[in-house]
Amino acid sequence: MDKTTLEQKFTEIFGTAAQGTFFSPGRINLIGEHTDYNGGNVFPCAISLGTYGAAAKRSDSKLRFYSANFADLGILEANLNDLKYVKEDNWTNYAKGMIHFIKEAGYDVNCGLDIYVDGNIPNGSGLSSSASLELLIGVIVEKLFALDIDRVDLVKIGMKTENEFIGVNSGIMDQFAVGMGQENRAILLDTNTLNYDLVPLDLKDNVIVIMNTNKRRELADSKYNERRSECETALAELQAKLDIQSLGQLDAETFDEYCYLIADENRLKRARHAVLENQRTLRAQKLLQEGKLEEFGHLVNASHVSLEHDYEVTGKELDTLAHTAWKQPGVLGARMTGAGFGGCGIALVQKNQVEAFTQNVGKVYEETIGYAPSFYIAEIADGTKML
Ligand code: GLA
Repeated sequence: MDKTTLEQKFTEIFGTAAQGTFFSPGRINLIGEHTDYNGGNVFPCAISLGTYGAAAKRSDSKLRFYSANFADLGILEANLNDLKYVKEDNWTNYAKGMIHFIKEAGYDVNCGLDIYVDGNIPNGSGLSSSASLELLIGVIVEKLFALDIDRVDLVKIGMKTENEFIGVNSGIMDQFAVGMGQENRAILLDTNTLNYDLVPLDLKDNVIVIMNTNKRRELADSKYNERRSECETALAELQAKLDIQSLGQLDAETFDEYCYLIADENRLKRARHAVLENQRTLRAQKLLQEGKLEEFGHLVNASHVSLEHDYEVTGKELDTLAHTAWKQPGVLGARMTGAGFGGCGIALVQKNQVEAFTQNVGKVYEETIGYAPSFYIAEIADGTKML
């Protein structure tokens, strides 16, 4: 969507002129899944699917929100001086949370706003539409009030909104990828230190195909929190003999030596995933930088296997996509991406095989699951910005 269309839409809804237009990407994660709340590494990138916005300041303290994705809700209102989570306020809770925590951090947000939003991330697809929206609102507020907020601080405010305002106990990966992304680069992020590296993503004659199960991740949030607490308990068990603060600090050998301390099979599997996936992510990043795409692809597959059997967050839909993708010609690797339980997978596919790939995988998926998946080519994009 271009600037002019956004400005027109804004005026149609609010009757005034927009003072700025914005774009905030979604994200995929190449590898490093369910490691971000275990103090491990992740390797995501921002994508060109995302959320557009247009906004203008008001002379009173009203906040008025309109989303083309929730057009039936019309304009939803809130007040700058009374920002609370209200279930019925739907998607605007993300916006209210961001503004609330930006104010709480001491920034001067001294009048209301009209905000128009329009996104093209498929609903519930696990491509981080919520982090995309959070950072969009954050950058709108930052730019229109000339606040100059450090981007990593804004990322942290996004995570705080998710954790404390919305009540989803997620890690920092999504907001970081959305806020810090760069065109054609993946971000190797150490979630323990927040040190990061923007790694050039040279896939030679391959592209990343996003495979959408078209299954919404309904149960995801409760299962997500369950995995988190299983890992926390396993960590506490290991701490009986090891001086560590997170599973991400362990290498495979040390984990192997001390895993006898974990008293339950499920917890053992969860912790094993967290430790090995973290190591795998570091190896994968090196292989990618060395241009060893085939080996990189093998680790992408291994990540799925570990998420399927040890972490148990895939499900029939994602497994069907990944397993079918592995058998197609010209595929370097495929795995689920994001939280799992539905949502999307990714596959690294030779450009000239993409058409056959989507046809074959689509056919098998539909025969097995009963409805069709969707496919998109991922373009690796910049983080949230003013247009
Ligand atoms: C969701 C969360 C992230 C991360 C992934 C799994 O996307 O929001 O913080 O934990 O799941 O890697």
